[in-house]
Amino acid sequence: MTSVSNSKTIKPNTLKAVPPGDPRDRGGALQPLLLVENLRKHFPIKGGIFNRRVASVKAVDDVSFEVLKGETLGVVGESGCGKSTLARLLMNLIDRDEGALVFDGDQVGDQGGISLRQLRRNMQMVFQDSSSSLNPRLPIMDSVAYGPQVHGTPSKVAQQTARELLEKVGLSPDLFASRYPHELSGGQKQRVNIARALALDPRLLILDEAVSALDKSVEAQVLNLLRYLKTHLSLTYLFISHDLHVVQYISDRVLVMYLGEIVEIGPVDDIYSTPKHPYTQALLASQLSMDPAERVTEAPLSGDPPNPVDPPSGCRFHTRCPFAETVCSQNTPSLGKRNDPQRHSVACHMHEPGSGHSRTQSPPVYVPSHGAATPKNERRLQGAL
Ligand SMILES: Nc1ncnc2c1ncn2[C@@H]1O[C@H](COP(=O)(O)OP(=O)(O)O)[C@@H](O)[C@H]1O
Ligand code: SF4
Ligand SMILES: [Mg+2]
Repeated sequence: MTSVSNSKTIKPNTLKAVPPGDPRDRGGALQPLLLVENLRKHFPIKGGIFNRRVASVKAVDDVSFEVLKGETLGVVGESGCGKSTLARLLMNLIDRDEGALVFDGDQVGDQGGISLRQLRRNMQMVFQDSSSSLNPRLPIMDSVAYGPQVHGTPSKVAQQTARELLEKVGLSPDLFASRYPHELSGGQKQRVNIARALALDPRLLILDEAVSALDKSVEAQVLNLLRYLKTHLSLTYLFISHDLHVVQYISDRVLVMYLGEIVEIGPVDDIYSTPKHPYTQALLASQLSMDPAERVTEAPLSGDPPNPVDPPSGCRFHTRCPFAETVCSQNTPSLGKRNDPQRHSVACHMHEPGSGHSRTQSPPVYVPSHGAATPKNERRLQGAL
């Protein structure tokens, strides 16, 4: 409770911890809340006089992972790597080309599985742009009450729920319920969006850059609010952000994406202390440090990501990787079989026995303060090995 920095506006007794044993839980604690299998989305690029598909943007390509019950899974990667497309696919806001989604044991959209309507009750999303997510003509209480009303809750009950939710996210309903979005600050609008996402009592929240547009101090307040709500409402989060500090702060596990694929996944401490993929190493090395001695003078990751319309063959990172060898452009590395979802897995030939990469037995040592994936560090690492 003390960690919530807006504790003045959250009454201590407004949130009751969910008792152990959520009645909605079907498969038990060990069954992933969401299972994502071989998900693929290629956006068509049309052209020519017949406006036919001439190419496609490979936004999400054969992505498989699990979201475990009660965890926060952080998703990181450069802009354009497919994070938002992944989020929209999970929410079924766009159709997937291939792949399967299984929510707590139920296949999504299949006959006998969970319907899209039921899925929306269980899974909600908060977007980056707090303003455009709210109807400017509706007072915020009506915006929050809208979802339950659409799902058949009587108007009066929905309004009462909305007032309680505003209270939960730290906005006194007496002060805020009748305000319009333009009368709120960015942080307050994002709190309303969180309340709206909670209105159907979901189990999984997908937060797509939900705090990225906020001032640092407001961002910290909203992050603490999210942590608080997660504990008290038994929520699970998929937290997408380009900010590695924020992801480290809030996540239990981290998934790293590059050009539509997962290159590394594992517990947050492992990923941040011993990243295995050269791309993850470069991403972490490019974080800004407050310590002048730790500052990077050379960009750890040079150049723009390749075009997702025509991604490089084999390992998609090979055009930027200082450790790339012939095998890297010929064969696609895989994350391997993952019987244990908690395992730290990496898709890189250097970590794949028998791949043919010369460094398979001695992958380069990560040098946290200066990064690994630069020609300069490559020289240093060669000296160290
Ligand atoms: N509706 C769309 N039509 C065509 N290309 C798209 C569409 N949405 C996203 N993309 C492309 O898919 C890739 C991934 O985009 P996105 O998922 O938004 O990345 P991120 O959220 O990681 O920045 C980008 O190359 C983007 O241009
Ligand atoms: S597979 Fe090769 S190119 Fe890809 S990250 Fe590993 S070493 Fe670099
Ligand atoms: Mg995005």
